[in-house]
Amino acid sequence: MKYAIVGAGSRHKMFRQAVAETYGRENSLVGLCDINEHRLAISAAAVSAKGNGIATYQAEQFQEMLHEQKPDTVIVTVPDYLHHEYIVEAMRAGCNVMTEKPMTIDLDKLKAILDAQAETGRSITVTFNYRYTPARTQLKDILMSGAIGEITAVDFTWYLDRVHGADYFRRWHRYKDQSGGLLVHKSTHHFDLVNWWLGSSPVSVAANGRRAFYKPETAEAFGLSERGPRCHTCPSADRCDLKLDLEGNEPLRELYLEAEDCDGYIRDLCVFDDDITIEDTMQVHALYANGASLNYTLCAYSPWEGLEIKFHGTKGELSHRHVEVHGVFGGKQNKSHGSESMTTLLHLAGQEPVNLDVWAGEGDHGGADPVMLGHLFDPSITADRYGRGSSYIDGAWSILTGIAANASIKTGEVIHIEPFLAERGIRLPQKKW
Ligand SMILES: NC(=O)c1ccc[n+]([C@@H]2O[C@H](COP(=O)([O-])OP(=O)(O)OC[C@H]3O[C@@H](n4cnc5c(N)ncnc54)[C@H](O)[C@@H]3O)[C@@H](O)[C@H]2O)c1
Repeated sequence: MKYAIVGAGSRHKMFRQAVAETYGRENSLVGLCDINEHRLAISAAAVSAKGNGIATYQAEQFQEMLHEQKPDTVIVTVPDYLHHEYIVEAMRAGCNVMTEKPMTIDLDKLKAILDAQAETGRSITVTFNYRYTPARTQLKDILMSGAIGEITAVDFTWYLDRVHGADYFRRWHRYKDQSGGLLVHKSTHHFDLVNWWLGSSPVSVAANGRRAFYKPETAEAFGLSERGPRCHTCPSADRCDLKLDLEGNEPLRELYLEAEDCDGYIRDLCVFDDDITIEDTMQVHALYANGASLNYTLCAYSPWEGLEIKFHGTKGELSHRHVEVHGVFGGKQNKSHGSESMTTLLHLAGQEPVNLDVWAGEGDHGGADPVMLGHLFDPSITADRYGRGSSYIDGAWSILTGIAANASIKTGEVIHIEPFLAERGIRLPQKKW
């Protein structure tokens, strides 16, 4: 299969290596496209070093790339607010699409994608790597077995620490019109997991959210009143626990600091800025078509990183806790929790709780990324009893909870999904798990 990638930032590397190297015998990378010449050149050099060179294209030459290189599939790894443009253009040019999450960030863009998909019949794969984390696949396995009976309710909390969490407040993610806020950008993973675990989709959503930590008052409280617009030139950087040292981190320096002249993309804006438009503290309550309900919390400034989830069922409870040690993006990593750990507890009514052996794997995102890449790019892997592959339908349902939650935060109302979609002329098929 022939692939082209649009968006040569940090995330595209995983796909580039999979297509050009790990699964390079079965696939080929035929083109790279980006708005930034510098990042394009770094990526092209990495491919060329392994083989026969690669054609690169500026953003305005995207159509030219499709016409000249004729990829079967376009991989979309640009910032979230641009996904729909490339997804739609690629499908209209006859290509299939593989896109990073979130598929898109609001209902107008979602409609553009759904319309183009219906007209062209092309496939869209949304790369939900979290489904492939072995421990999360194990939860699906247990739930599928019916061990806890009918799943009636879910309590789910996701904790982002002050290293990983802060990174969403430094660049495009921090603007709601560019990322949809964390309830779309980040929680798309979490809501996708819940949809997939439950085998259902939400019918109504209510939410609260606010920016409680990443704001000027917190900087003042930390004694950081002399702040610059970015860490690189900030007079208080040495005293700031949340600083990102672009200069001192070689990959970040190469990819972003040294590329700034091309497009003015600043990677280390101050996380305490007043112009941030996303929330850092969010709670969502959702009702599902199968009768289950979800309580969900996302906190972006926790002292630790990880997740806790509990499924309540008619026969018992299934609980999972994952303490993650995430990639270091800057700031001061809180090491107090030691190393990565996962626990899964099955507690059936009338029995002692059982600590299960947690399914494990190596690699990023709790061992998810390598498993997912095999399923995406290894043609010999065709079946998956867990149904982890995700289409535009999963992509759409996964963002709808967050989009509806954003509307609920704004209006204070419970959002009923069906009329919410119908008002915009959107019809979304129910996913059959
Ligand atoms: N699944 C995951 O775990 C995961 C992890 C990280 C990022 N992501 C997703 O991957 C995507 C990329 O994230 P990233 O961290 O690499 O971002 P990034 O900002 O590092 O990279 C984006 C790239 O797109 C380029 N770009 C910007 N505007 C463009 C345009 N108009 N045309 C072409 N190229 C353009 C930028 O120059 C940059 O090279 C996002 O959608 C993000 O949500 C997913």
